[in-house]
Amino acid sequence: MTDAAKTMEKLAALCKLAQEPAQAIRRHNDILVVSHVDADGLTAAAIMCKALERQGINYKPLFFRQLDEAALNLVADQGSDLVVFTDLGSGMINEICERGIRAVVTDHHKPAVCEARPLAHINPHLVGADGATQLSGSGTAFLLASALDPGGNQDLSALAIVGAVGDLQDMASGHLLGLNRQILEIGAKAEALSFSRDIKLFGRQTRPVYKLLEYSQDPYFPGLSGNEDACIAFLKEVGIRLSGEKWRRWIDLEQEEKARIVTALLKKGLRSGVDNAKLERLIGEVYILLAEREGTELRDASEYSTLLNATARYGHADVGLQVCMGDREKALQEAQKLLGEHRQNLVNGLRLVASSGITALKNIQYFDAGDAILDTIVGIVAGMSFQMADRSRPILAFATTPAGDLKVSARGTQDLVRSGLDLADALSHSAHAVGGVGGGHNVAAGATIPPAAKQEFLELMDSAVGKQLCR
Ligand code: C5P
Ligand code: ZN
Repeated sequence: MTDAAKTMEKLAALCKLAQEPAQAIRRHNDILVVSHVDADGLTAAAIMCKALERQGINYKPLFFRQLDEAALNLVADQGSDLVVFTDLGSGMINEICERGIRAVVTDHHKPAVCEARPLAHINPHLVGADGATQLSGSGTAFLLASALDPGGNQDLSALAIVGAVGDLQDMASGHLLGLNRQILEIGAKAEALSFSRDIKLFGRQTRPVYKLLEYSQDPYFPGLSGNEDACIAFLKEVGIRLSGEKWRRWIDLEQEEKARIVTALLKKGLRSGVDNAKLERLIGEVYILLAEREGTELRDASEYSTLLNATARYGHADVGLQVCMGDREKALQEAQKLLGEHRQNLVNGLRLVASSGITALKNIQYFDAGDAILDTIVGIVAGMSFQMADRSRPILAFATTPAGDLKVSARGTQDLVRSGLDLADALSHSAHAVGGVGGGHNVAAGATIPPAAKQEFLELMDSAVGKQLCR
């Protein structure tokens, strides 16, 4: 069977799994939607809430940093007849059922081994598709929304793509593939989305071109990244007019100007010794939301997802949700303000890692941010830290939570995953062994552990990752 045929088979299997819960949902008037505080969780919740709104069903959204026992108790206390979990739940099926919660779980994290059965469970892993690269939480929610209104809700594919990009599902290959690609095609047919090959640097819609280069991390251009003056000089040398009435953005440039910049960047990268594989990442697929205004964050899936992270990860999931639900006034302005602060926090976080350094063990490396980086964004900083870290070991980042627990975020590379790395497995076992909880994906996972267990946890992780990589 060809890969395309296998994907279609998996899609059909997931759509089949969505039939029964769609019918159950239609029989209810009030539904609790429980989701995760990141871009994928927000878009997943928004897809579900929009689909319910269109069916005339009342909904109440509830967001959590992670679905632990305390969160589940809160969910159970709501006394809802039906709870739809989006972008979380698969790791806690037994605990959900133990509390008598009638649940439809739509998720893409690795499911825990469980005996209990919720009302329905929709997850790409259940049909043999990888939840880190093939389908996001928002994509899974989209399949349920499609079952709720066959032939309708196709416009919501745009949010599903924002979620997938927010979970970095396009990063391994430079474009979305598998089930995500099927959703992309539905969106393109419905004229909600377009996609094309373009420069993969962040800020194509909203940033002056020189800022695009200045903040380029992946690939990192020695002599340009982090140096505003050098970026301005470089663009002038290439013959690019930097401003008209305003600073020109990537979207304001002519095709020929874009090509000239890319060629010059590749030459400069090669001359500075950046390896080919990294330089190839400069170009990839980009995703445009056709219903959104040009020059706003919302027009570009990558900028949209960062805007959402800037709300939900700081306790303002309601603002992000309203943006996803269509508010282009107050909520959007609030989100844009939060985005400015988020950017500054990421810059400060990276500076902290650069100055305090990363400690290497045999098979992993780590840094401890204490309370200098928020536990909700320490994973983003960990991922960005690969620019200054050794790529042959996964990175673990520690941060103290407001409750005094220790949050761990782990990030790997696709090369490491190909060599056997599975951070979800390693984190969930190591966290469990020290009295914590953890899970996620092979390439990115998280956990919360008791602070006193840090050393023991590091040793367990070092050994678990060592075993995975030598297999
Ligand atoms: O929090 P962080 O960004 O590091 O999480 C990485 C991934 O691991 C996310 O997809 C998150 O949902 C997942 N995760 C999890 N269980 C936890 C913590 C994180 O499944 N306890
Ligand atoms: Zn997700």
